[in-house]
Amino acid sequence: MDIIRNQVKKLSGVIEIPPDKSISHRAVMFSALTNGKSKISNFSKGADCLSTLNIIKQLGCEAEFIDEKTLVINSHFPFKAPQQPLNCGNSGTTMRLISGILAAQRFNSVLIGDESLSKRPMKRVIEPLELMGAKITHNDFKAPLKIEGTSLSSINYNSKLSSAQVKSCILLAGLNANGQTVFTEPFKSRNHSELMLEYLGADISVNKNTVLIRNSKLLPKDITIAGDISSAAFFIAAACIVPNSDIIIKNIGLNPTRIGILEVLNKMGANIDILDKRVVCKEDVGDIRIKHCELKGVEISGEIIPRLIDELPIIAVIASQATGTTIVKDAQDLRNKESDRISCLVKELSKIGVSITETPDGFIIDGKSEISGGKTVECYHDHRLAMSLYVAGLVSQSPIEIKDFQWVDISFPEFLTLMNTLGA
Ligand code: S3P
Repeated sequence: MDIIRNQVKKLSGVIEIPPDKSISHRAVMFSALTNGKSKISNFSKGADCLSTLNIIKQLGCEAEFIDEKTLVINSHFPFKAPQQPLNCGNSGTTMRLISGILAAQRFNSVLIGDESLSKRPMKRVIEPLELMGAKITHNDFKAPLKIEGTSLSSINYNSKLSSAQVKSCILLAGLNANGQTVFTEPFKSRNHSELMLEYLGADISVNKNTVLIRNSKLLPKDITIAGDISSAAFFIAAACIVPNSDIIIKNIGLNPTRIGILEVLNKMGANIDILDKRVVCKEDVGDIRIKHCELKGVEISGEIIPRLIDELPIIAVIASQATGTTIVKDAQDLRNKESDRISCLVKELSKIGVSITETPDGFIIDGKSEISGGKTVECYHDHRLAMSLYVAGLVSQSPIEIKDFQWVDISFPEFLTLMNTLGA
C-alpha cells in the first residue's frame, strides 16, 4: 500500500497508544515458562508480537483472546517439541529471546524468519549461548538457527554491546542453567526482562549494568501492559514540529531505560509535561501532554543511545525542524535493525530536502531544513522508517508519497487511524 502525505495546519486531541511491543513479547514468553494461567491485559497485536504468540502455541501453550486486547495463556511448562520450524517473521526480539529459552530444552528446534530477519546478525546471541554449552547450527551466524536442546552451564559474560535482546536471551538461558549467570553491558539497555522476571518470582538481582540470575521457576501472574513509548514517539514528534499542535497521549510506558527521547526533547527545548505518573507491574506509566514550540539542535551520544535506539529515525525528523546542528554518535548498531537505519534514513530524508550527512556511527543534521517533499520515498520494509517519513510529510511543502506503507503493521496497525483522530 502506497500513501500520500501532505502538510497539516495543527494536531490536537487525546489519544491512547497501542501496547508496548517489547513488554508484550516478554509477557507471552515468560508466562509460557510457568505452569498455570496468566491474564495479559493490553497485549500488542502488531505482527511481531503475534509471531511470538504463534511460537509459544507451537510449543504447547494454550492462548486465547477473551476480548480485543486481553490474552489468557494457559501454560504447561516444560514445553512440547515443535512439529514445524518456528517462524519469527520480521521480529529480532522473538528470535533472539526465544533462542535463549530453546537452547536449554530437551528437544531440537529450528528458528526461521522473513527476508530481513534472515540477514540480521545472530552472532551476538550464538556466541554467549555456546559459551554456556548450547548447540546451535546457523547460516554464517544468521537464521535459520537449528538448536539442539541441551543442559546449559552458567557464565559470567561481559557483553561488548548494550543490547536488551542479547541480555534477555542470556538471562532466559541462565534461568534454566546450572549455577549463577552474570551479564554485564557497557551501558544500561531496556530492563523490561529484569523487571518482569522479578515480578514473576525469578531469583534475579541487578547492580548498575550487571544482572545476576540463578536457576529458578516462574509463577503465573496477571500482567498489564502500558502504551509503547516507541510508538508514541511518532506522535510526540509530530506535535513538537507541527505548528499550533497540542495533544495528550494517555497511558504511556515511562520506564527510565526507554525515555531517552523525552530527555533529548527536553534539551531541545520542547514543551512536554508528564501527568499522573504511576507504577503498573513494576513499570513506570503516565500521560504526556505535548505542545508545539521552537526547538534547538543537540548532541546525542554515549549512554543515552540504548535508551532511544528505536527513536533515532524519528529524532532525525525532529532535528530537521530544529535550529542548529544535531549530531548523533555511537549508534552504529542502527545499521543492524530491520534496515540499515543510518544509510536508508539519510538517503530518503535527503531526497525530500533535509540536510543530513551519514557518518559511520550516526548522522549530522543541519536545521532548520525546509522539507520540500514532492518525491516518492521508500521504507525498506522498515516500520519505523515508514512512520518517520510520514511525520516528515506533515510539515512538507509538497506531498510525499511513501511506498509500501503497510510495513507499519509490524508494530503499529492503528497508526493511520490515530493520526486521523488528531486531525492529520
Ligand atoms: C528490543 C531491544 C532493542 C530494540 C528492539 C527491541 C527488545 O534491540 O531495538 O526494537 O525488546 O529487547 P537491541 O537489543 O538489538 O538493541
